Amino acid sequence: MTKQRARKDRSIHTQAVHAGERGPRPDFTPVSTPIYHSVGYLYDEMEDLDAVFGGQRPGFVYTRYGSPTVLAFEQAMAILERAGDAVAFASGMAALHAVLLGAGARAGRAVVAAADLYGATYALLERLFPALGARVRFVDIADHDQVARALAEEGPAALLCEAVSNPLMKVADVPQLAEMAHAAGALLLVDSTFASPYLLRPLERGGDYAVHSATKYLGGHGDVMAGVVACSEEKGRDLRERQKLLGANLGPQEAWLAMRGLKTLPLRMRQHCANAQAVAEWLAGHPAVAAVHYPGLANHPQHALAVGLFEGRGFGGMLSFDLRGAGRAEVFRFMEALELVLPATTLGDVYSLALYPAHSSHRLLSPEARAALGIGEGLVRLSVGIEDAQDIIDDLEQALGRAFENHGQ
Ligand SMILES: Cc1ncc(COP(=O)(O)O)c(C=O)c1O
Repeated sequence: MTKQRARKDRSIHTQAVHAGERGPRPDFTPVSTPIYHSVGYLYDEMEDLDAVFGGQRPGFVYTRYGSPTVLAFEQAMAILERAGDAVAFASGMAALHAVLLGAGARAGRAVVAAADLYGATYALLERLFPALGARVRFVDIADHDQVARALAEEGPAALLCEAVSNPLMKVADVPQLAEMAHAAGALLLVDSTFASPYLLRPLERGGDYAVHSATKYLGGHGDVMAGVVACSEEKGRDLRERQKLLGANLGPQEAWLAMRGLKTLPLRMRQHCANAQAVAEWLAGHPAVAAVHYPGLANHPQHALAVGLFEGRGFGGMLSFDLRGAGRAEVFRFMEALELVLPATTLGDVYSLALYPAHSSHRLLSPEARAALGIGEGLVRLSVGIEDAQDIIDDLEQALGRAFENHGQ
């Protein structure tokens, strides 16, 4: 029963606050999920509120403990990842932080991680976790002997990798790595941002957690920052308990945008994959380009693995390439010459985007650390959008022409 807090005999000060709120409960169902901005939730009986607080019945009490629009996005992600549960966070980094804690990274325990990671993830592991007493060991995730050695020597709580790595597009052999991690008593955490559930569902391949920066392909339109973790029901319950304390929750508006993005994820991914393949093949034949890193090219070191893992759906929308003999000045000239492709610091949008890892995504790494990983001063990362592939190629061609004219190319 709705209580009449804005009754006609109350003061305008009271009515202005309560009038129109908490109207009759609808007997209809909105076709698309509404955005619930409410922070608090009411129940007729205090016993019900108590039961929700205690976890004896589903419901909402306070937004940091869960809210309807966010839950709708989480349920959608659990379905797309074929997972027991999914938990949303305010960003991909918040999701990675929570999942590392959830997997048992803490003082005295170790994490073994791919060295080829998004720069902030690398910095989180290199700086923040060791400062808390955890050991972190970076490995070449494609070198399974090295991974096995690290697992045996460290006995880690977790092994962390990116399904397709940022920015060199190394493909992780998730089934094999899961087996190795589990044999060593570790959990496998897969940052699946570049793959998205369109290409890979890490939990079906043995992974324990699939982590996404939903800011990228899941949202897809460059207008929402979000993170999400797919995992078992049990691990989801644990993450939700941690989230109540850590508070890096996704807002309802953002959840709605992320969920809206999911609806066109397969359509966008299909186009991203087709366009990236065309762009990669074109770049590979350009004289100003020394190397192209794209799993869809036959000369990519994990091409065969990617064919099996992604089951013919494509190889993703991300690629990177080395400009021949180029450094910062030449790369900047190229980026400034682009007219369609946007030199902006993100990826996975409908727009094509170019990024210079040395000054953005991997700026937190020293030049030596970048060089050791193979991230050279002439490396450009391209997030191929869903525009017409030929328009993207034409823009790259004119920008390469302008950047390298009179410079010996
Ligand atoms: C592979 C990968 N993981 C995680 C992140 C972090 O995501 P967010 O920026 O949403 O915190 C990024 C960001 O670029 C990324 O590329």
